[in-house]
Amino acid sequence: MTDLTYSEYLQVDTLLSLQQPRSSGTADRAVVLAEHFFIVAHQSCELWLKQLAADLEAVVDTLASGSGAAGLELSVELLRRAGDLLRVLHEQVLVLERLPLRHFVEFRPLLGTASGAQSEQFGVLARLIGNDRRDGALYEAFVAAVARSGLSVAHVCRLGPEAGGLHRVAEALLDVGDGLLRWKVAHLGLMSRMVGGEQGTGGSSGIDYLLRRITLPFPELRYHRGELHPSELARSAG
Ligand code: HEM
Repeated sequence: MTDLTYSEYLQVDTLLSLQQPRSSGTADRAVVLAEHFFIVAHQSCELWLKQLAADLEAVVDTLASGSGAAGLELSVELLRRAGDLLRVLHEQVLVLERLPLRHFVEFRPLLGTASGAQSEQFGVLARLIGNDRRDGALYEAFVAAVARSGLSVAHVCRLGPEAGGLHRVAEALLDVGDGLLRWKVAHLGLMSRMVGGEQGTGGSSGIDYLLRRITLPFPELRYHRGELHPSELARSAG
């Protein structure tokens, strides 16, 4: 048996064959390089989204399976990793601020109607996390795990660290929700500096559309945490 090499294991040749700037051969070198940069940033996002969605799906399954303290700890580990991956995704957006506008203007028409709004993996992530109007599968699985332990989400918030693993899961869920929020804000900033008030390639109004999509996930969790403040305690006691 021959020794497995780094590039065989990681399929580096295949991976590096996937960046195909459409401006190649028709534009000057700086424009082709800029489009290459744009492609690498988006492809990197898709790779991390794959890991992120798989990790969060595993959290849903683990919380739903009722696997006790070990299951809660695994959920915390996976949620914390997801929170950190969202930081990486945030950086992928920030790095694109180094895309020179004059070069983007040249290759943007080549994108046609292709748009990040068509990212299936982002759709999966958004459905798992949910928004301020609709809970996602993650929160539903958390509520079920809380109910199985004979508590409510309000109890878990009130108990804080005394709620143990459920408390740590709640904290890590918020890290994930806020990570997505930060990504969306950074993406809106990037989009507005790159295209201003222009429509998106996907046909949306651009800024208004993205602004409306910035919401705070896990509203119930945030609400119950707010209830811990003295003014709220007095109001609910009175
Ligand atoms: C120059 C950089 C970028 C610009 C100008 C830009 C622009 C836009 C615009 C205008 C939209 C609204 C939909 C449309 O009409 O097309 C959008 C949505 C979106 N873009 Fe970007 N984008 C950029 C970079 C990125 C990157 C690096 C990613 C990473 C995958 C990304 C992912 C997305 C996603 C997931 C949506 C849907 C957001 C949602 O539904 O809340 N975009 N983008």
